[in-house]
Amino acid sequence: MPESITITDNRSGESFEIPIYNGGISSTEWRKAVPGVFFHDPSFMATAVAESAVTYLDGEAGILRYRGYPIEQLAEKSTYLEVAYLLIHGELPTQQQYEDWSHEITYHTFIHENVRKRFLEGFHYDAHPMGMLVSAMAALSTFYLDAKEIHDPESRQKQIVRLIAKMPTLAAACHRFSMGMPFVYPDNSLGFTANFLSMMWKIAEPRYDANPALARALDILFILHADHEQNCGTLAMRTVGSAHADPYSAAAAAAAALYGPRHGGANEQVIRMLTEIGSIDNVPDFIKSVKEGHGRLQGFGHRVYKNYDPRAQIIKQAADDVFAITGKNPLLDIALKLEEVALHDEYFVSRKLYPNVDFYSGLIYQAMGFPIEMFTVLFAIPRMAGWLAHWVELLDQDQKIYRPRQLYVGADERAYVPLGDRR
Ligand code: ACO
Repeated sequence: MPESITITDNRSGESFEIPIYNGGISSTEWRKAVPGVFFHDPSFMATAVAESAVTYLDGEAGILRYRGYPIEQLAEKSTYLEVAYLLIHGELPTQQQYEDWSHEITYHTFIHENVRKRFLEGFHYDAHPMGMLVSAMAALSTFYLDAKEIHDPESRQKQIVRLIAKMPTLAAACHRFSMGMPFVYPDNSLGFTANFLSMMWKIAEPRYDANPALARALDILFILHADHEQNCGTLAMRTVGSAHADPYSAAAAAAAALYGPRHGGANEQVIRMLTEIGSIDNVPDFIKSVKEGHGRLQGFGHRVYKNYDPRAQIIKQAADDVFAITGKNPLLDIALKLEEVALHDEYFVSRKLYPNVDFYSGLIYQAMGFPIEMFTVLFAIPRMAGWLAHWVELLDQDQKIYRPRQLYVGADERAYVPLGDRR
């Protein structure tokens, strides 16, 4: 006998027992009991939108696992490409599967010349690289017409490989354009992250070999950002995917959501905030102004984490390895002071506001030489694996099109007033 909740409809006096499955109650059961009464949950505060086996997250305990594997173990022992395979296929690859997967990704990194020459070069000279990336991802759907065959497993797999493989190429192309620098073609002799760094930084040398420690640090950041269950961007992917749009269009919608400063755009805002604070002496005044309602402490707080974001903890450790090579980011001391003050302040403590993944990631990116405008792009590259894992899961579950209901609060029926009669 499953656990259940009993609801009494006080209008009729009737009681209904609704079973609880996996910690949730089914809306189908609810609708049977009280038809026509909808949940009013505008920001999905208490709505489980899917049954998912991709990522487990316990925000109270600060736990994050991909397909059951703790994020700490993956960050220490795995690679982004392996994690991408895990997220999409549900299991860690065997040696052979990993080699085949890496080969496939490596040999799909090139983008059509028209994407770069005609499409990307059509942007205004100071276009934000994230805006360019969102558009370029959508534009890819016009180059791969077979992407519409979403129920054909072979076509689906092909688009998955293409999307993961082309993200670094597109990302670097957007950066190079904004710098007025020539495009760098992918180098198939390099690994995923080293290849991205080559496309970012190569100038005239025949081959760009990234510092292995920096490539590894970036790969760890890619692992940490690869998925985060039903976040705003993933919901966008699932929503557009539920309409059976092709994965390029759905992923562009997901990336557009990520662009927002409340979501993946926060890492950019963190650096702007730290720069504005300018010195650790100004931290107390800044905290005071946040508490008075003048803006937010960027990189703090999370809809589901009511504890330290485990990703922020791993990033903090990775930061030391990076700063040992690049030199310390001068903004680090301000960040550490902000964290210390906030974690002892009643305002933040009572609201359970802790540093999230964005609080320290920007400091690393900046120390590595990435311009601030690239930060959300760096988030989008690995998040593609998570978006695709959720997209595949959604299609495999044969989920209906996403179509919530509303509580109408507008005007009652009224007669049209001709333009000349309106006051
Ligand atoms: N600084 C100051 N106060 C905050 C912050 C913050 N960063 N975050 C939340 N609060 C306060 C709110 O003012 C509110 O206080 P109140 O109860 O007195 O009104 C309370 O905490 C709850 O805040 P909500 O906005 O209701 O929380 P919600 O879950 O909707 O928001 C969000 C989560 C958007 C992440 C929020 O914490 C925020 O804006 N943080 C800063 C931006 C950021 O770092 N975003 C990255 C998130 S991680 C990611 O997407 C990858």
